Parts: sequence; C-alpha cells; structure tokens
Amino acid sequence: MGSKNLGRNLRLALVALFACLFVAGVTFKSGAQQTAGAGQPQQPPRQQPSSDVPAEQVFKNIQVLKGMPSDQLQPTMEFMASSLGVRCDFCHVVQQFEKDDKDHKQIARRMIQMQLDMNSRYLANLGGERISCYTCHQGRSGAPHLPRLPFAAPERAAGAPGGQPPAGGAPGAQPGAPAPQGGQAATGGAPGGQTAAQAPRPTAEEVLAKYVAAVGGREAIAKLKTRVMRGTREGARGGAAAYEVTFADPDKLYIVAAIPAQGQQPAGELRQGINGATGWTTNARGARELNAAELAELRNVSRYLMPIKVAEPFPQMRLVGRGRVGDATAWVLETKPAPNVRQLFYFDQQTGLLLRQLTVRSLFLNDVPEQVDYEDYRDVDGVKMPFTVRTSGTNPNNPFTIRKFTDIKANAPVDAGVFVMPAAPKP
Ligand code: HEC
Ligand code: HEC
Repeated sequence: MGSKNLGRNLRLALVALFACLFVAGVTFKSGAQQTAGAGQPQQPPRQQPSSDVPAEQVFKNIQVLKGMPSDQLQPTMEFMASSLGVRCDFCHVVQQFEKDDKDHKQIARRMIQMQLDMNSRYLANLGGERISCYTCHQGRSGAPHLPRLPFAAPERAAGAPGGQPPAGGAPGAQPGAPAPQGGQAATGGAPGGQTAAQAPRPTAEEVLAKYVAAVGGREAIAKLKTRVMRGTREGARGGAAAYEVTFADPDKLYIVAAIPAQGQQPAGELRQGINGATGWTTNARGARELNAAELAELRNVSRYLMPIKVAEPFPQMRLVGRGRVGDATAWVLETKPAPNVRQLFYFDQQTGLLLRQLTVRSLFLNDVPEQVDYEDYRDVDGVKMPFTVRTSGTNPNNPFTIRKFTDIKANAPVDAGVFVMPAAPKP
C-alpha cells in the first residue's frame, strides 16, 4: 500500500480504518499564509516558515521566541489564543502582527518569558510535564488569584473505607500515563469502574488484536481497495456542508468539500487530491500543486480517513493505562511516531473499538494536543467504520470539526481520473 512515506506511517501508526481529521488542513494553512507576511509587495521576500529556520529570521519582531522553529509560530499563537479564550486581535493589530501596539502583546511576552523560566528551572518538580498558558489560564484571559468561594465539598473516595485510594486510580496510573484530558483520564469512579479497574491488564498486542477482530478481522480489512464516503462537514460555527472523500489503493485520495457562504464570501467548493507522490488543491482561481508541508498535512488527513492495515508486531506501541471517553472506559496505547510527537489511542474495553486518538506535539513553548473522536460505528461490507468523526484542536478560528457520513461504500468502482490534478484555468 502506497509510498514509502505512507508505509512508514502505517507501521508506526497502528490502526485499521477510520475516518477523518481536519478541514483538510485548510483553516490552518490559510492562517499560516496570512501570517507569513508573503505577498506584501513593499517588503523584501522573506523565507517561508519551516522547521529549520528560526522564527526571528522569518518574522519581523521576535523577542522572546528566538530559536523557535518558524513553522511553530502559527500553532503556538493558536494555542496561546485558545488557552486564553481569545482571538488573535486580543494581542494583535490584525494584518500587522509585528506591531507592539497592544498591551496584551507585551504582557504575553512577559508571560512567555516567565513560563520558559519556570519550565527550565522546575521541570523535575512538575513531573516532567511543562507548564503552559493553559495551566493557569484554562480558557480565560485573566487567571484568578483567589479561589471563588464557596468550594464544593470534595467527594469521599467511593468504595474506599479506611481512606484507601479509589480502585482504578492506582493500577492504571504510572509515570507517563496519559494526563487527564478534561477529566476523562483514568481515575476510576466509572459506572462499573470497580470491575473495569480489576480487569487484568492486557498487553498492547492483545488490545490491538481485539480491535482488529472487532472491526471485522484482518481478511475483511485487506479486501478494502476503494472507499467512497459521503456526508457533511460542520465547524464550530455550524453550517453543515456536503463533504465527500474517495480513497483508492495505493495512496490515492480525493476530497470534495462544499464551502458555505460566509459574510461577503460566496459559497464555493474545495477539491483536494493525493495522487501517489504529489498532491494538489483547488480554489476559486484554479488548481495548484501542494508544497511539501501542505502535502504532509493532507497525508495526515488521509491517515485518519484511510483504512489502515494493522502491521505486526508493534514494538513502538505500549499500554500506558486506562482512560475515559464519555461513558466508556478505554485501554490507552501510546506510540511516538516522531521525537516530539506522541500519540495516544483509546480502545473501548468492552467493544474493542477505537474511540479516540490524541496526538500531542511538543513545541518550543507548549505541548499542543489534537484529538480525533470516532463514533457511530456501522458495518460496511463486513468492516466496521465510524460514521461520525470529530476532530478538535487549538485553532481559535475553528476549534472543532464534525464529519458525519451518511453513506460509505467499499470497493465501488472509482474513476482514476479524479485523483489527477485538474488543468490550471486559462489566465
Ligand atoms: C496572548 C497574546 C497573543 C495572542 C492571542 C496571539 N499572539 Fe501572536 N504574538 C504574541 C507575541 C507576544 C508575539 C511576539 C513573540 C516574541 O516577541 O517572541 C507574537 C507574534 C506573532 C507573529 C509574528 C509577527 C512578526 O512579524 O514579528 C505573528 C505572525 C502572530 N503573532 C500571529 C498571531 C495569530 C495569527 C494569532 C491568532 C491565532 C495570534 N498571533 C495570537 C502574542 C499573541
Ligand atoms: C503560572 C501561571 C501563568 C502562566 C503559565 C501564564 N499566565 Fe498569563 N496570567 C497569569 C496571571 C495570574 C495573570 C493575571 C495577572 C494580573 O492580574 O496582573 C495573567 C495575565 C495574562 C494576560 C493579561 C490578561 C488581561 O486580561 O489583562 C495575558 C495576555 C496573559 N496572561 C498571557 C499568557 C500567555 C500567552 C501565556 C502562555 C505563554 C500565559 N499567560 C501563561 C498567570 C499565568
């Protein structure tokens, strides 16, 4: 299946089939382009953000984030804004990001410096997990200095006479276990938490084998050659719009996404494709090839969307403990697909199905999470597929996207022409 690149990802990533992520990386990209300062004729051309060029060489007024890879500026800004529950203009004169006209930007600089200092001095005290803007701000611009009274009475540990710690916390918890994500982590107290907590710990291989079986088995997965998924995509501001994804082995992807009218922008349509080693996208002006970063982003989308065959064995996967997703208790497996990236996979202890995938990127300043939740598994030709996929991240302009599929067809005939980049329009 597919290029070397994808093959490697497959081996590292695990997983059978599930569906999609991001607005095909669109919101994020347009932000990055906007902020890169490109296309302002009076300025000398600047370098494109990338992982090996520091921010101060791409942007104009970097004082405390010197040395940060420039391609981390956009996700770092998004994380800061979301952690404070604000938009970019809280700190910036929009379109003039280098200006220091707003007090909040100056305060933020001091906060960044404070945070860098704290993390460099006290990391050991912090259990190795860095403090972030979110640690103190938790989605509010002002961080409270005093608690608001009255406090709620802390609950007694259920089923723990004599002050024993609750069942469920201890056996699953270990250093490096998944940090609580919105109170969904492994601390027992679940309905039936007692039994779940007492369930013997399986190995990572056993969790994955149960998943493959739950999805339909290795053979059924191997038979999937093409997939056409139709439904809608909806962002945090609503406006569900038609969305269609087509896959073909090897390494072919085609997305058609309707874009609803927004303000003065008329409704439109976005088409994107991967055709082996290259990728492309369209907009109102025509088609163009994707650059390396954009292609990587789209491959990332495709990885969530694509039926992925489980490779054996999984030396990189390890069981880190229990987690909660909604009402379900899950086994959590961890893998490190890259030095600064870790991924957690939450498998339902009961059904064996994948409920959540959490990717945490350790950036220069903060650890930035990105989450995919899978719901509504239904049978398609002997293989269970999630018909609802929710992706969420730290972009304040689009905190989450929900894809709901109404129709998924496996192995339907697919016109190979759709994966090829459309001809550029006449000027
Ligand atoms: C809480 C305040 C805050 C928020 C919110 C914020 N920024 Fe920033 N931004 C800063 C600070 C501080 C710097 C300068 C960092 C430094 O000096 O190292 C900066 C720098 C930048 C730069 C570099 C400008 C240059 O050329 O020097 C860009 C671009 C940028 N931000 C974009 C954004 C975008 C886009 C958003 C919204 C997603 C955003 N920022 C949200 C505080 C903020
Ligand atoms: C250790 C806790 C802590 C961390 C970490 C932290 N802050 Fe703060 N921040 C505070 C507190 C407390 C205040 C309120 C200060 C005051 O009242 O003068 C504050 C205030 C601010 C304000 C002013 C808000 C307003 O409405 O006036 C900004 C902007 C800000 N922080 C940005 C950030 C950013 C960006 C980060 C991450 C890079 C960050 N902070 C990390 C504790 C923190």
